[in-house]
Amino acid sequence: MYTEKVMDHFEHPRNVGELENPSGMGTVGNAKCGDIMRIYLDIDDNQIIRDVKFKTFGCGAAVATSSMATELVKGKSVQEAMEVTNKAVCEALDGLPPVKVHCSLLAEEAIRAALWDYAEKTGAVIQGLKRPKNDISEHEEEEEY
Ligand code: FES
Repeated sequence: MYTEKVMDHFEHPRNVGELENPSGMGTVGNAKCGDIMRIYLDIDDNQIIRDVKFKTFGCGAAVATSSMATELVKGKSVQEAMEVTNKAVCEALDGLPPVKVHCSLLAEEAIRAALWDYAEKTGAVIQGLKRPKNDISEHEEEEEY
């Protein structure tokens, strides 16, 4: 049911963890299953993504897609990272079962939420970037008080 690449990234996920003082952080919820994904980006002065980490309460497919997505954005510019869509991630994994495609959306949305956070903090302009729909980080912050 799962390709070798999906199994590899599920069993040996890359870039799991968190970053202290990230340049951008995005937390999104999956509207379909309620699972959660958080992405941390470390972006340098030339707008290159130097490091990226993720944490998830998602399923195996979410782990595999996020692992692949973090590998794809690492070393890219923030503008190039916009090309890492869920479709691109699925293709890089040689496909996902159709019922699991929604899981790959988490990675794309979390990266975009983290890019949005970075753009808001720095005033950087990223073409095509929109406010993330499923961003739940603001909600979380409210809960802390
Ligand atoms: Fe929720 Fe896959 S079932 S992320």
